[in-house]
Amino acid sequence: MGNLIGRMIPKTKESAKPTRSLYAKEQAVHRDYSKQVTDGSRRESLAAWNLLYSPGQIGKRQTINRFVSQAMEGNDGGPGGSVSERTLARYQRLAQGNWGVVIVEALSVVEDSVARPNGLILNRKNLDGYKRLTEAFKKKAPDTVLLFQLTHSGRHSGTFSRRVCLYPGGDAGEGAELLTTDKIAGIRDRFVEAALLAEESGADGIDFKLCHGYFGAEMLRPANIREDKWGGSFENRTRFIREVVEATRAGLRNREFLLGSRLSFYEAVRGGCGTGGPDEIIEDLTEMLRIVSLLKELGMVYVNVSAGIPSLTAEITRPTQMSRLFVYHHFRYARLAKRQVPDLTVIGSAYSALGKSGSSWAEENLQKGYVDFVGFGRQSFADPEFPRKLSEDSASVHWCTTCSGCSKLMAAGKHDGCVLYDPYYRDLLKELNSAARNKDTKDSVPRGSGDAGIEKLAPAERHG
Ligand SMILES: Cc1cc2nc3c(=O)[nH]c(=O)nc-3n(C[C@H](O)[C@H](O)[C@H](O)COP(=O)(O)O)c2cc1C
Ligand code: SF4
Repeated sequence: MGNLIGRMIPKTKESAKPTRSLYAKEQAVHRDYSKQVTDGSRRESLAAWNLLYSPGQIGKRQTINRFVSQAMEGNDGGPGGSVSERTLARYQRLAQGNWGVVIVEALSVVEDSVARPNGLILNRKNLDGYKRLTEAFKKKAPDTVLLFQLTHSGRHSGTFSRRVCLYPGGDAGEGAELLTTDKIAGIRDRFVEAALLAEESGADGIDFKLCHGYFGAEMLRPANIREDKWGGSFENRTRFIREVVEATRAGLRNREFLLGSRLSFYEAVRGGCGTGGPDEIIEDLTEMLRIVSLLKELGMVYVNVSAGIPSLTAEITRPTQMSRLFVYHHFRYARLAKRQVPDLTVIGSAYSALGKSGSSWAEENLQKGYVDFVGFGRQSFADPEFPRKLSEDSASVHWCTTCSGCSKLMAAGKHDGCVLYDPYYRDLLKELNSAARNKDTKDSVPRGSGDAGIEKLAPAERHG
């Protein structure tokens, strides 16, 4: 380990130049290192990536490597939020990728408050589709751990849907219906029901979505000052996840079914997750670290560390080439989670923004013990077979450029995927662009990298 890090950050004359920033130097080192991926010295690179391609552990499950395909909504469900042929095909591609873990995108536990017009819904009516998905996936990738992400979109449900909130005001709160004590208990029961359906469908576990500003995150926030049992004190704000996990566990048949959760460490909104009070906006991670400890106490086996609210602070959730510095915050949050509970498995996020050097950063963070697994979101869209291709034929990898085309499609309610490498999605974006031109709104379409076009859309129409 020491040797590897030593090799990655050499003491060169360059490093003595006072004019060059630390950030630029680090980027250069990682660019050089990642060159090994593309310049033909592939074997050496693989030898250096000894942790990325080494087995990992989540609960009692051993994984084939440390690559995680993060949850990525494709917005291509069939009627009633069922699994469509297109959805199945997407997961078949991922099954060919040799991922250690694949997290199936956000699946809504309810029908009436959803974020995407064609978003997936996990209910008994749709169960057969999920069974098909897991069966086909496991046939191709029996050793990949397959988790389902469960969500309720809460105040960030689409404007076409029922927007509900736990407390009035705040981000996207305007016009959202305030949930009653009993309705929240009903949502709790739907989470439990969906978790048990996930088990029945053959998934290996659940990723409870408590991040990105949706219902699960809103519940945890200091801004949730409800006066009933679901708000106010830390005890009350964490009641929901405690009750969901306890009831799920009581209903599970498989004792080794994996339970974990995705958190936004810092949402960067007033009273949001990662602040110190309902009226605070400055980062204070005291409570988030308590929540990490709580996950462990509840018997969860991992925490998937994310940040931000895609509809408001997208640059934090999914940094682009232009906002790469936010990736370092993701590194820091993951490291803090690991330090808080060393024996809880930690999955890090946002590696796609680092492009070709993402894998060397991932290896470095694994070597340093900051994370146990590294999550790739957009890179899994750009190349669903990324881990396998990187090890077998790295020159053939399709690298994500963080052009935001997939985000643009999602925001427009279209089927969503990589516009750079998949002609189907490229054509969808072209149609969208020409419709925008016809409406004389040409500036609403993003060109190159950056999220500019996305920011022009209504918050409830954005995603993540
Ligand atoms: C099109 C799109 C869909 C996404 N869908 C989800 C989702 O379903 N659940 C989730 O937790 N995050 C979702 N995210 C966030 C990603 O999982 C990931 O955290 C983010 O893109 C940053 O990681 P990356 O740099 O590897 O892409 C989505 C992001 C994008 C761009
Ligand atoms: S569309 Fe752009 S941002 Fe999205 S996966 Fe493809 S290259 Fe990455």
